[in-house]
Amino acid sequence: MYQKLDLPEKWQWFQQARYGMFIHWGPYAAIGRGEQVLFRDHMDPVQYEKAACLWNPREFDAKRLARIAREAGMKYACLTTRHHDGYCLWDSDLTDYTSMKQAPGRDFVREYVDAFRAEGLRIGLYYSWLDWRVPAFFDGPEKNPEGFKAMKAYIHGQIEELLTRYGQIDHFFFDGSWPRTYEELGSAELVAQMRRWQPGILINNRLGKSETKSVNEEDVGLSADHGDFGTPELNVTAEKRLWEACHVSTWRLWGYAPGEQVKPSEQLLDLLCECAEKGGNLLMNVAPDGDGNIPPAVEKNLIEVGQWLKVNGEAVYGTDNGDITEFLTHGRQTARGNTLYLIIRFWEGKETLRVNDLLSRVQRVTLLSNGMELPFEQTESDLVIHGLPAEKPSPLFPVIRVECAEPLKTNEWGQYRNWCGDPERIARWAAQRGETVMVGR
Ligand code: GLC
Repeated sequence: MYQKLDLPEKWQWFQQARYGMFIHWGPYAAIGRGEQVLFRDHMDPVQYEKAACLWNPREFDAKRLARIAREAGMKYACLTTRHHDGYCLWDSDLTDYTSMKQAPGRDFVREYVDAFRAEGLRIGLYYSWLDWRVPAFFDGPEKNPEGFKAMKAYIHGQIEELLTRYGQIDHFFFDGSWPRTYEELGSAELVAQMRRWQPGILINNRLGKSETKSVNEEDVGLSADHGDFGTPELNVTAEKRLWEACHVSTWRLWGYAPGEQVKPSEQLLDLLCECAEKGGNLLMNVAPDGDGNIPPAVEKNLIEVGQWLKVNGEAVYGTDNGDITEFLTHGRQTARGNTLYLIIRFWEGKETLRVNDLLSRVQRVTLLSNGMELPFEQTESDLVIHGLPAEKPSPLFPVIRVECAEPLKTNEWGQYRNWCGDPERIARWAAQRGETVMVGR
């Protein structure tokens, strides 16, 4: 069951935001087989590097992308400043393998930060610890003490550049620490430094410890060694602290691939509602192509979700709870304070809707799609809503707001769903028809 988090003021924006844009983009976009093509296709690293240096995405327009993110209803974003291929999208002094020193002659991180900030979005940066070009990272400090020391200084130096040159950075997404450990990477010292440079920053959990395990498994709670927020990837697993599930808007790859199928807007929205329902955020990926353009089908679907959020956003932004009663047969539920939101995935076209297991006294019920108040009746544990239109009132999931006069409460059916709780309650319920396997008593 969801537990309300006691968050410091500086991090409250994150829970309020609920929805951000992940941007995976680099020279790999021009190859068009995802962000890991260098490794997965075992490419010749010299050839890859040559092509990367010539990559020149003239059409990349950060302002346009920032507008799309805002219209999509996203409240923050996170750009891959350097992915596993090691190519840097900013003007790093520590290497010449950057978009500034190679063909584009542009600092894409600067363009991104300025454009997204101007649209009122919070700023996140993704950075890969590992760099497939550098053997010392994989040899490690035992085998190659000098090389690894230099690599570590390079990494720490680049993070310093990113956190001291671009104004306020709100969110930092480390990735790819394997095979190095928290101690080898110097994560503790680096994180302490990062907080000095950016006192409000939220740092993710991929710091060299338990990257793949959820915090609940280890029960480490809010230990700083595990970062400030969890990052379930391509799944939505709630943790007992801040978390952000990251997903692709396509089927599998994070970087651009022209053969990738695009998730329909219902599925994008459903992922967002699932995260909100379980008390977390969704970081939804977009992959601009080799010229810097976001695929039109992805843009269209994101904007459709944004239009839904304009009408129904209160069911997502700042919700701090959800899944109060058993509602799976209709859709999803989110909540804030004494208000419950019913997100109807399966519109039946019936005049009534029954909500089981709600013990709180209901004051008002409203269909957000048209703002109409709906009549209702309430018994001890059931709410029956009337007056629903036969036609689905919005192209994506309609939302019903249920305002209660007291905090949201449920009964044992709401508290314990399938396969948990006291089986005795199921026996009592089954006994209504008798004891026998035969039909009739
Ligand atoms: C993974 C992948 C990477 C992707 C990331 C997103 O760890 O290595 O390609 O950027 O997850 O969370």
